[in-house]
Amino acid sequence: MNTPFTILGIAGSLRKASFNRAVLRAAQQLVPEGVTLEIFDLAGIPPFNQDEEANPPERVAQLKARIRAADAILLVTPEYNYSIPGVLKNAIDWASRPYGDSAWEEKPVAVMGASVGAMGTARAQYHLRQVFVFLNMYPLNRPEVMIANAARRFDEKGNLKDEDTKAHIRDLLVALVAWAKHHERGRRASAGSS
Ligand SMILES: Cc1cc2nc3c(=O)[nH]c(=O)nc-3n(C[C@H](O)[C@H](O)[C@H](O)COP(=O)(O)O)c2cc1C
Repeated sequence: MNTPFTILGIAGSLRKASFNRAVLRAAQQLVPEGVTLEIFDLAGIPPFNQDEEANPPERVAQLKARIRAADAILLVTPEYNYSIPGVLKNAIDWASRPYGDSAWEEKPVAVMGASVGAMGTARAQYHLRQVFVFLNMYPLNRPEVMIANAARRFDEKGNLKDEDTKAHIRDLLVALVAWAKHHERGRRASAGSS
């Protein structure tokens, strides 16, 4: 019997009609069998204040607990001014603190993003990948899911309708699960050999 596998999905937009939130909802329907994709909504995460990092607000404590409980992370980012939105960076910063108590440490992570522009969040995604280096996360390299011209790919209710994009997301989810299981096997092997 396969053990349950949980991905925690976080979208970097608070907008009700957000394409990125819609992409994350669509991904929930595209996960492989035996995999659950839970969504953590960043609404309610206050601006980071280092004075509070040792005793963070309840919503931040919830975020850290949910990251730790997940087998893998899926970040779905808009591109704001060629980078990641402050809302997402702010949440990343909270969950990385206090120093030595980061929830992101060694977490397998995949990135997707949707933009109304032609670059499909490419620049934001590469900035995010730079952040993963200091966080010591394990980013999935491929596939890269960069959804350009997002407005054309959703119906009037905000549901993703583009079948090629859905297939691409499905491929990413399969690859993320395999990537996370690969790291988990490595962790167990090194724990067994020490
Ligand atoms: C502050 C701001 C900056 C933006 N900068 C970019 C950008 O650099 N590149 C881009 O492709 N789109 C940019 N956009 C447009 C976004 O792609 C578009 O608003 C998108 O719908 C945001 O994601 P969401 O639908 O998930 O909220 C920007 C939008 C805002 C509000």
